[in-house]
Amino acid sequence: MIDFSKKDWWKEAVIYQIYPKSFQDSNGDGIGDLPGILSRLDYLQKLGVNALWISPVFASPQVDNGYDVSDYRAIDPMFGTMEDMRTLIREAGARGIGILLDLVLNHTSDQHRWFLEACKGRDNPCHDYYIWRDGQPGVLPNEMRAAFGGPAWTYVPQLGQYYFHQFAPQQPDLNWENPAVRQELYAMIRAWMAEGVKGFRLDVIDQIAKDPDRQITANGPRLMEFLHELNRETWGGANLVTVGEAWGADIPRARQYSAPDGSVFSMVFQFEQMCLDHEADKWVPKAMALPELKASIARWQQGLHGCGWNSLFWDNHDLPRIVSRWGDDGEARVDSAKALAVALHGLQGTPYIYQGEELGMTNAPYPVEDLRDVESINAYHELVDGGKSPEEALALIHRMMRDNARTPMQWTAGENAGFTTGTPWMRVNPNHTVINAEAALADPDSVFHTYRKLIALRKAYPVFVEGDFTLLCPEDPQVFAYLRRGTGQELLAAVNLSGKPAAFALPEAFRGCQPLLATQGTPDSGVLRPWEALLYLRDAI
Ligand code: GLC
Ligand code: CA
Repeated sequence: MIDFSKKDWWKEAVIYQIYPKSFQDSNGDGIGDLPGILSRLDYLQKLGVNALWISPVFASPQVDNGYDVSDYRAIDPMFGTMEDMRTLIREAGARGIGILLDLVLNHTSDQHRWFLEACKGRDNPCHDYYIWRDGQPGVLPNEMRAAFGGPAWTYVPQLGQYYFHQFAPQQPDLNWENPAVRQELYAMIRAWMAEGVKGFRLDVIDQIAKDPDRQITANGPRLMEFLHELNRETWGGANLVTVGEAWGADIPRARQYSAPDGSVFSMVFQFEQMCLDHEADKWVPKAMALPELKASIARWQQGLHGCGWNSLFWDNHDLPRIVSRWGDDGEARVDSAKALAVALHGLQGTPYIYQGEELGMTNAPYPVEDLRDVESINAYHELVDGGKSPEEALALIHRMMRDNARTPMQWTAGENAGFTTGTPWMRVNPNHTVINAEAALADPDSVFHTYRKLIALRKAYPVFVEGDFTLLCPEDPQVFAYLRRGTGQELLAAVNLSGKPAAFALPEAFRGCQPLLATQGTPDSGVLRPWEALLYLRDAI
C-alpha cells in the first residue's frame, strides 16, 4: 500500500482512470454510476492501482459527458449522491486507493447558475464571470473556431453580445481575469479537499488565461501567475497529486508545471507523442515511424529527469484505444497490448491506465447512429459537407474518435458485458464475448496479469521510479529498447513494437541474466518475436 503521507507519494503510484458513465451501472438505467464504481473496488485492488481519476461526476446537462459542469459542488443524480461519493472515498481509502476528481475550471455549462445570471443583464454581478464582446447578429468578433466545430462565439440577443467558448456553445469559457471567479473556484476546490480526496486532474488547464482578441487560448500571458495563485490558494503544501491537462506544453513549460518545489502541479499530461500520427487537424492521418516516437519519448524522459515529472499514458477518454492504434487489434491483440504496456511502464513517471486498457479493449468502428460524442458527430458532418463520401468520412472518424474509448467496460461475456441490466447509453462492443474482465482474471497469460505484474514491479524496484533513461538503437524501426539506471540497479526494457521478428542483441552486461518479465516465455537469443517484450534487471554500481 502507498503511504499517502509520504512526500511525493504519487511518484510511486499507478493511477487508473474511470470514465464513470461507461464503467459500471448499478441501477439498470444504462449509465455507469458511483455505486457501480464502489462495487468494482476489489477488481481495482487486485490490479494494484493506487488512485482513481474519475472523470467529472458533478451536476451537468451532459452535452460533453460531464465536462460541462452546472454545479461543481453537487454530484449529478445520474451518478449518485454526495453520500455515495463520501462512501467511495472512504471505501477506496480503506483499500489504499485514493480518489482524484476531475476539475473543469476553464469553462462551465451554460446551465450553471453563474451563466444563467450572466445572461440576465450586463450589470448582473455574474456577467463578468464570462467573456463577452459587443456585436451584431451575424457579425462575429473574429473568426476563431471552437474545438467541436463552429465558431467560438455565440450571440445572446437580449444582451447584444457574444460570449466566447473554446468547446461547445453550451460550454462558455470562464473569465479568469476576474478575481471573483478565481476565488469561487478556489473555495470549491478547498471544499472537495475537506472531503478527503487525494488529488485532482485539471481539465485543459493551460487554456484558462486566454486572450481571444489576439486569438490566444493556450499559454496566455497571465497563465503562470494564475496557476501559482491556484496552487497557493488550494493544494499547495497539501501533498496531493495534481495533474494538469496541457495540450500546449513543451518540455520547458512542463518543467515549470511539474517543478519539484510543488508550486504548480505534480505533473502534466502533454500530448507530443499522441499527436505524431495525425496533422494539426486530428482527422487528417499522418504516417508515424517508430524512431520518431522513440525520439520524442526520450526527449521527455531526459528533459524532465531530476527537474520535473512525467505522466505516462497511452489512452484516455479522448483518445482511440492504443491496441487498435499502435498495436494489432486482430490476431496479435494480446501480445501487442502487452508489448505496449511494458514499453510504457518501464519509463520514469506516473503511469495512468485507462479503464479497459488492462483488458486490451479495442476501438469501436460503429455506424454513425451508434456514436455519442458531440465531437465525432459534428466532425463527421463537417467532413461530409466538405465533400467526403459518408464511407470516407466515417473511416477518418473511426481512426481518432473519442467514442472508441467510451464504450462500456467489458466485465463479462454475458449480456451487455455485465455493464448494465438495462439498455446501455452507448452500444457495448460486440467483442466483449472474448475480451472481458472475467476471462482475463481467469487466464494467467492475459493482458490484465501483465499490467498487474508491471504495477507490482514498480513497487518492488526503486529503479522504476528513480532511474535515468538511455535510449538504445534509436534508428531501429521495430524495437523500442532503453536502459534505466539508478539506486544501484540497472533496468533494461526491450520491446518489439512490430508484428515481425526483430534482431536484438542483449547488451553484454545482461547476458546470462534471467528476465524480470517476459511476455512470451523463455526468450530466444538474438531475436525478439513479434510483439515480444522483455524486462531485465541487474545490480550495478
Ligand atoms: C478536455 C477533456 C475533454 C473535454 C474537453 C473540454 O480535453 O479531456 O473530454 O471535452 O477538455 O472540457
Ligand atoms: Ca446507473
